[in-house]
Amino acid sequence: MQDQVKTIREQALAACRQAETVQELNEARVKFLGKKGELTLILRKTGQLPKEERPQFGKLVNEVRDELELVWDQREEELSRAEEERRLLAESLDTTLPGRTVARGTVHPVSRIIAETKRIFMQMGYQVVEGPEVEWDYYNFEALNIPPDHPARDMQDTFFITEKLLLRSQTSPVQIHTMERQQPPIRIVAPGKVYRADSDVTHSPMFHQIEGLVVDEGITLADLKGTLQLFVQRMFGPDVKIRLRPSYFPFTEPSAEVDVSCIICSGTGCRVCKDTGWLEILGSGMVHPQVLKQVGYDPGKVSGFAFGMGIERIAMLKYGINDIRLLFENDVRFLEQFTS
Ligand code: DAH
Repeated sequence: MQDQVKTIREQALAACRQAETVQELNEARVKFLGKKGELTLILRKTGQLPKEERPQFGKLVNEVRDELELVWDQREEELSRAEEERRLLAESLDTTLPGRTVARGTVHPVSRIIAETKRIFMQMGYQVVEGPEVEWDYYNFEALNIPPDHPARDMQDTFFITEKLLLRSQTSPVQIHTMERQQPPIRIVAPGKVYRADSDVTHSPMFHQIEGLVVDEGITLADLKGTLQLFVQRMFGPDVKIRLRPSYFPFTEPSAEVDVSCIICSGTGCRVCKDTGWLEILGSGMVHPQVLKQVGYDPGKVSGFAFGMGIERIAMLKYGINDIRLLFENDVRFLEQFTS
């Protein structure tokens, strides 16, 4: 039996050396030193020995157990340190690799002009309001002094949904909604989408406008001109001038088309302004007394001015874009250019 103990010891030491992982080592520990391990089993056989040999045998088994346990602990430390090292090595980061960049979006030029225009007018104390894109004929035309069969309806090629319902062809109906809701003083801008059956390099069936409306006691054409002069300076630069040309809109009297001095050539004449030195940017005028009456205001007491401009046109002028369709194709190579 003593020889058996020696064999177990040698086998155990060999198993300990051969274990390459902590797990293998633990399995071998159970096999030799566990509750049902070989060394335990042989210790139980002590009773088979003659009485006088038993103490010595017990001592031998315990010495072997102590020795093996020591060896096992050492080996376990060695293996777990090696394993930890291997794990760290496999996990290590290469800090010299270039990082992954996140593609950064840009604000669409139309959204930019809208935001910029809103900001400029809010600084002047205007409120920003919005109205529906599907509109009644009444708001888009009739209340704006354009009765059925009026030739002015032909100025805008409108998409009708039913006889009375349409896609608004202008943001001017927001004027009526606002005046129906509120009493003067009124100072609003209303940005939004409008629709017309029209499509070429400068026209899109859907485009954006911003409407402006001011109504109060004693509002004059001078207020209109001063307001728009300030707006174009903030939008295009301090040296830009405006000029008002007499025009016609059914809902304003008098009406004016507003030009800015060409922002490309500063008024000396170029291809963009067709050598005139001026660019048309919006329609405007003094709110027609008939429109004020229609919403229950007294034209003898209050007066107002209004204006409406095309956002895409402003964006095209400001950024030198020569085809309106570029604004709606959403080609990132185009959109990426508007970064600051
Ligand atoms: N709604 C007009 C259009 O789309 C533009 C316009 C002209 C708006 C004069 C106004 C205005 O408010 O006073 O052609």
